[in-house]
Order: sequence, then C-alpha cells, then structure tokens
Amino acid sequence: MGNVAVVGAQWGDEGKGKIVDWLSERADVVVRFQGGSNAGHTLVIGNVEYRLSLLPSGVVRPGKLSIIGNGVVVDPWALVTEIETMRNKGLDISPQNLRLADNAALILPSHGALDRARDARRGDNRIGTTGRGIGPAYEDKVGRRAIRVCDLADPKALEWRVDDVLLHHNALLRGLGEPEVDRAELYAALTTVAPQILPYAGPVWRLLDEARSRGRRILFEGAQGAMLDVDHGTYPFVTSSNTVAGQAAAGSGLAPGAVGYVLGITKAYTTRVGAGPFPTELTDAIGEKLGERGREFGTMTGRKRRCGWFDAVAVRQAIKTGGIGGIALTKLDVLDGFDEIKICTAYRRGGETHDFVPAGMTAQAELEPVYESAEGWDQSTRGARSWADLPATAIKYIRRLEELIGAPVALLSTSPEREDTVLVRDPFAD
Ligand code: GDP
Ligand code: IMO
Ligand code: MG
Repeated sequence: MGNVAVVGAQWGDEGKGKIVDWLSERADVVVRFQGGSNAGHTLVIGNVEYRLSLLPSGVVRPGKLSIIGNGVVVDPWALVTEIETMRNKGLDISPQNLRLADNAALILPSHGALDRARDARRGDNRIGTTGRGIGPAYEDKVGRRAIRVCDLADPKALEWRVDDVLLHHNALLRGLGEPEVDRAELYAALTTVAPQILPYAGPVWRLLDEARSRGRRILFEGAQGAMLDVDHGTYPFVTSSNTVAGQAAAGSGLAPGAVGYVLGITKAYTTRVGAGPFPTELTDAIGEKLGERGREFGTMTGRKRRCGWFDAVAVRQAIKTGGIGGIALTKLDVLDGFDEIKICTAYRRGGETHDFVPAGMTAQAELEPVYESAEGWDQSTRGARSWADLPATAIKYIRRLEELIGAPVALLSTSPEREDTVLVRDPFAD
C-alpha cells in the first residue's frame, strides 16, 4: 500500500476536493504542497458544503492529520479566517490535527495589491489571476525576500525581513502609482497575527517522515491543474507554481519515492477560469448549457468558468508530464441528456495537425480542435454508485476517453456528494 498524489489534469476545478475527501477515508495524513488561497476545493457531505482554500481537505474527517507543506504560499490572515469559518461549521481544527510548515513563505497584503495592480495594467493581455497575491509571493520566495512562517517567532529577524521585502514592494508600488506600505503598520499586523498562526507551525517534514516510517498513508492534495503549471501549462496564462505531482515531494519535504501513485482528476468536459488559450471552448448555447448544468462558477471568486468539450490532447499531455497512473473522471452527470458529445483528439493549425500542446503562446492561441463525435445518453447518471448503473453509451464514452488519453479511469464521480463515487480500482492499492 503506497501513498497517493491527487493532481488536476486540466485547468483546475476538476473536483480535486471531492476526490481527496473521498480518498481521505483511506488515508492518515493529507498534505497540501503548492498553491495557496487561489485554490477553491468544494466538499459536499450530506447537506453541508465546505469550501476550502488553504486548508487540506482532510480537515473535515476526524482523526486525520492535515498538513500545509512548505511549497504552499500562506496568507496568515486568510488562514485564520478559514479556520474560524470551518470551526463555525462544526469542524474541530486545532494544532492536534492541523500543522503548518515553518519554512513556508507568507503572502502579505502588498502581494495582493501588486498582483491586482499588475494584472489590471496588462489590459487585454491580463492573466485574470485570482488576485490573491500568489505570483508576487512566489517571486519573493525565489528572490530570497520572503517572510516565512518561522520569522513570525523571531521579532529581530522579522524586522530585517520586513525591511528587505518592503524595499522591493514599495519601489514597485511607487512605480505603479499605488499606495506604499507603512513599515510599522506591517510589522504590527504581523506580530498581531503571529500568535494565531504559530501554534500550528513546526518542521512538518519530520512529521511526514515519521508517518511514512510507521507505514501511515499519505495523501498529497494538489491545487490548480497541469495546464496551469508554471512550466508545463499554457504560459504565461498559468499560476506561479508547479502543479504536477513532481512538486509533491519538494513541496512537503519528502523524498520523490514517497509520492507513489498519481491520480489525475479530470472533468468529463473542460473548464477554465481566467484568460488564456482554451482550444475546445464553446461560446455558444452548448457552452452555456455545460456551465449551467455543471454550476461552473468559481468556488472562492464566484467568477463564471469558460466551458468546452473534453480535450483529450491536453489531458494526454498532462498524464505524460505528470506521471499520472490513472484518472478520476468527474461530473459525468453534467453530460446527461446531450444528443451528441464531442471529444477533441488533435489540433489543427495552419494546415498542420498537432498531437500535443505546443509551447508558444501564438501557436496555442491558434489551435483549432479536431473533433470526433460520441453518442450521448438520455438516462440520468447523477448519483450512480456502480458501473452497472451507467447507460451503455456512457460507458462507451468513458472507454473512448481512456483510449485517447492513455490512462485508465480509477474513480468516477457522478454528483458533488461524497458518496456518489464509483471505485473502479483503488489508488492506494497500486
Ligand atoms: P477543485 O478545485 O478541483 O477541488 O474543484 P472545485 O471544487 O473548485 O469545483 C468542482 C465543482 O464540481 C464543485 O462545486 C464540486 O462540488 C462539483 N463536483 C465535483 N464532482 C462532481 C460531479 O461528479 N458531478 C457534479 N455535478 N458536480 C461535481
Ligand atoms: P483549484 O485548486 C482554477 C487560475 C486563475 C488564473 C491563473 C493564475 O481550485 O483548482 P493565480 O491567482 O494563481 O496567479 O492565477 O490561474 N487559477 C485557477 N483556476 N482553479 C484553481 O484552483 C485556480 N487557481 C488559479 O484563474 O487564470
Ligand atoms: Mg477549485
């Protein structure tokens, strides 16, 4: 029995939260390893909906240890608010079941201000970021200017770190015509939030190492998706972290061999929120119908998601670049009642056919999907909990997707509800 990494195989919002929640019954530890409060993971358990952003999806199950790894960029104020919101929903969150890497970089209010100001100035070329400061925070981490969780426990170091980061931020804010940050105000805000965060902080790599040596099962919870990966995605319309499973080890402090089976999550169609290339996007009534049926609005930002047919080329590439062993296919029920369903099997550009996503942004913007048609089904698949409950045409569609993407379906999801899940093959058993 190994560990499992759950990663998005499209442009995010594939249903990772639901699948991590379902799988976490079989795990002991759930760890986030990249991203930050740009993520929005929805869990539906009975009639309660939980919208998690920074907290690992393991927090909803008693007895599981949730870890925010060093690869995550942590907005301490967002974390405090989320813990409070979840406590109000009846969850028990304490340093006993939630741990935060002391070497994780912090997101400051000025990261959000810079993120929003810069994206707004890009005009028509904007990325459409979530505005949560993710890009600027990762820049500062790599630029060795970040304030880290551990600095909150060290008032002397904190003064120095605040000066270092503000030297950079205030020059940028000045240049952008935005209000500068007052040093004393930031220092005071950080020392105020510190006691709320520090009880959770510690060397989580040690906990993970210990868990691993005791044979505990670890579930790595990815955020965003392969096509938003800073290297493998549709750059520059991406997020600022590696979202592929290769990051799970570095972003939590475990060896690459600890990651185990990689489960890629994909919708039975495609969505994307924010700007950037999307070859199978449907701007017609079919796209609207997918959006309505799938309730395609951002979990945290409320933004309308763009919708389109399943892009087998992009998912096949995500499977290769991410070492994905099998997929969880979600939202099959959203396709109920369509006469015809299309699948993108290749791209065409200027008379040439492509079987992969080229790296260049002009090339990506000009890709035309090559479709094949699949027969739809009339019956409802919503809530199906076994393969036997599925219409033959739905099974045929799933089998065709497996063939095109080169990976088997390990799990199938047929509604937002936790239990409406079909287990085809146990990812922990691989
Ligand atoms: P994540 O970011 O990958 O965790 O995905 P989100 O939570 O942002 O978006 C997925 C949405 O689809 C959420 O509202 C889920 O409750 C919902 N969802 C997940 N699986 C299914 C499914 O099989 N069918 C339907 N209809 N909705 C689903
Ligand atoms: P989950 O984990 C979908 C998108 C943003 C934008 C780009 C960069 O819920 O799947 P950022 O704020 O990260 O700098 O924005 O990435 N994006 C997501 N899209 N799901 C997410 O997370 C996303 N996180 C970021 O819309 O296009
Ligand atoms: Mg989401």
